[in-house]
Amino acid sequence: MENIIEALKSGIITHSPEETESVAYALAQFKTMGMGIGMGKDTTITLNGDLGVGKTTFTKGFARGLGITKTITSPTFNLFSIYNGSAQLVHLDAYRLSPESSAESLMLDDFLTSPYCLLIEWPHNVPSLIPPSALHLRLSILESGTNPVHKIELIAGA
Ligand SMILES: Nc1ncnc2c1ncn2[C@@H]1O[C@H](COP(=O)(O)OP(=O)(O)O)[C@@H](O)[C@H]1O
Ligand SMILES: [Mg+2]
Repeated sequence: MENIIEALKSGIITHSPEETESVAYALAQFKTMGMGIGMGKDTTITLNGDLGVGKTTFTKGFARGLGITKTITSPTFNLFSIYNGSAQLVHLDAYRLSPESSAESLMLDDFLTSPYCLLIEWPHNVPSLIPPSALHLRLSILESGTNPVHKIELIAGA
């Protein structure tokens, strides 16, 4: 993938979870190389889209791109998980939070060690955690069924 950011701006179609993971892997590698607008040392990426669009699948591929070999599981119940790789990966699933609840009580700041990548599922529930430099991805299902077709696009932030 020549320029993952440009490709994501146009939208990338995937036909399997593995393809979604590959897209995320490429973005993580791109970030690690320190390239791209808005891709500084620390990066926050919001993963927008309904249940089952592939947000956690994307995070798995992103983790691999950071050299993380540990299995990534959905942190729905413990809210966030931390993994060490070429950058620290913090995976937050804000599904159970409400925009009114105080995200500060998560004390996420205490766990963010630079350089980090913070990937956030359900970002609308934690507006105070989203820096202006964040990359915003939208995942969607174009076709469901036996041969599902998903789409990943960069909607803002680069
Ligand atoms: N192209 C695709 N990209 C991502 N996931 C896909 C794709 N095709 C099928 N799937 C399936 O869709 C589901 C996505 O689940 P998950 O990543 O947990 O979504 P979310 O975190 O957005 O709720 C998985 O069961 C995965 O196997
Ligand atoms: Mg999920």
